[in-house]
Amino acid sequence: MTLSVVPRPRVVEGHDGALVLRSPLRVACAEESREVVAVFADDLAGAVGWDVRLVAPTEACDLRLRHDATLADEHFALHVGDEVDVTAAGPRGFAHALTLLRQLGPAALWSRGAQLESWTLPAVTVVDGPRFAWRGTHLDVARHFFGVDVVKRMIDLLAAHRMNTLHLHLNDDQGWRVEVPAWPRLTSVGAWRRRSPLGHESEGRVDDVPHGGFYSVADVAEIVEYARRRRVTLVPEIDLPGHAQAVLAAYPQFANTDEPLEVWDHWGISTHVLNVEEATLDFAEEVVRHVASLFPGSPVHIGGDECPSEEWADSEAARHVMAVHGFDEAGQLQGLYTRRLAEALRGDGHAVLAWDEVLDADVSPGTTICAWRSVDKGVEAARRGFDVVMAPMQYLYLDWLSSESPDEPVAVAPRPFVTTWEKVYGFEVVPEGLDASLAGHVIGAQVQLWTEYIDSVARLDYMAFPRLCAFAEVAWGTAGELGEFRGRLVEHLARLDAMGVAYRPLDPEGTS
Ligand code: ACM
Repeated sequence: MTLSVVPRPRVVEGHDGALVLRSPLRVACAEESREVVAVFADDLAGAVGWDVRLVAPTEACDLRLRHDATLADEHFALHVGDEVDVTAAGPRGFAHALTLLRQLGPAALWSRGAQLESWTLPAVTVVDGPRFAWRGTHLDVARHFFGVDVVKRMIDLLAAHRMNTLHLHLNDDQGWRVEVPAWPRLTSVGAWRRRSPLGHESEGRVDDVPHGGFYSVADVAEIVEYARRRRVTLVPEIDLPGHAQAVLAAYPQFANTDEPLEVWDHWGISTHVLNVEEATLDFAEEVVRHVASLFPGSPVHIGGDECPSEEWADSEAARHVMAVHGFDEAGQLQGLYTRRLAEALRGDGHAVLAWDEVLDADVSPGTTICAWRSVDKGVEAARRGFDVVMAPMQYLYLDWLSSESPDEPVAVAPRPFVTTWEKVYGFEVVPEGLDASLAGHVIGAQVQLWTEYIDSVARLDYMAFPRLCAFAEVAWGTAGELGEFRGRLVEHLARLDAMGVAYRPLDPEGTS
């Protein structure tokens, strides 16, 4: 039996018969699963106006949630017979089961304010769970700022695909996006730029429209609570010591030169990076720890990609620091930041991630590497004993063109850098070249949504979907035959329509 759901479940066994559900839906569950049921109830009420009524375990019900501590985290079993029985070890498994249950119903269950008389479920048993613990999406809110509602909507969309991680890229040369009360100019100055490139950066045109915005401490708390209820892990990223021009516009004392700087109004990589004075390392540590503290228990990403070292090589003060540490190359100075920030964050109880460039200088053991430059960088990290999140641009950068068509909207890289949803679907999370004994280092994968050329929710939807649907199944670990997936995807698009997602339409079969 095939269920038209995404991602595809691991084990599906069809039975004879069907179960018809109506409002009010009677739900029996233990105290620990009340919150997951409350979220499901909110979704049903918003979508089709149905009520959920909690009943005692001894009463007749439509949906029953049972704990089974022997199941792995995020795994579940769902059985549709005379009632719907769901078994899981904890909230994340229950949440995935209820998402699957909703996908077994009509697309109206994903809309807002629709009418639904009844909901007929096929009699079926599903036993399911993800292969990879890290199934993420990265969202760059620095190049273009997206507000609290857009972030919450993205959390919903990830949960709808049983993905579990949202990585927020919170600063870059073009903007700083989170309030730090002790350093107010980070947002009063660093969150605003005068203009942005218009069309592709290479065209040299600008829009002369100021752009900016940031999350207040209260905004972050709202996002954190929303994600917690949806069982999506947030990963804040503060990217230092490169990608720092917005910081330097706000606090020039941390620069290597006296050149006055503004928040950058170009895309690309600014050569202006933090200096390596002790006070600047102190600042970076304080700010990163503060931002991390707003995301209690979250893994924290310390960036570390694309950090030009020319300014350090040209600076007498930086060359002195190199001599003190016995470094031959200016690039090694980056390791001072990587080690300092990683150790401070770990001391505060956060797991730490960084982009793969940190492998080129000192990086402390236990840092998880996001391999973005290539699959081989993931292999290198695993061989060196690091855990890895696979994020290679050649497969998982959703800011790349969706097809060869000249009608695609402007994207970061020109043809032939094209990432079709079919290419995403064919991605192997565990690299073929990796020794099987090291496969356990690959904890999962994530797609990237860099937003230089994504300046609206409509464009975000277009770039993310349906490639993200294909990725969700890859990361769940059940990707199979392309044609079979396409059939399910076509039905799944009705759910995206119901959610108001302006996805890129599929090309006619066999043309892409
Ligand atoms: C990156 O794309 N610079 C991580």
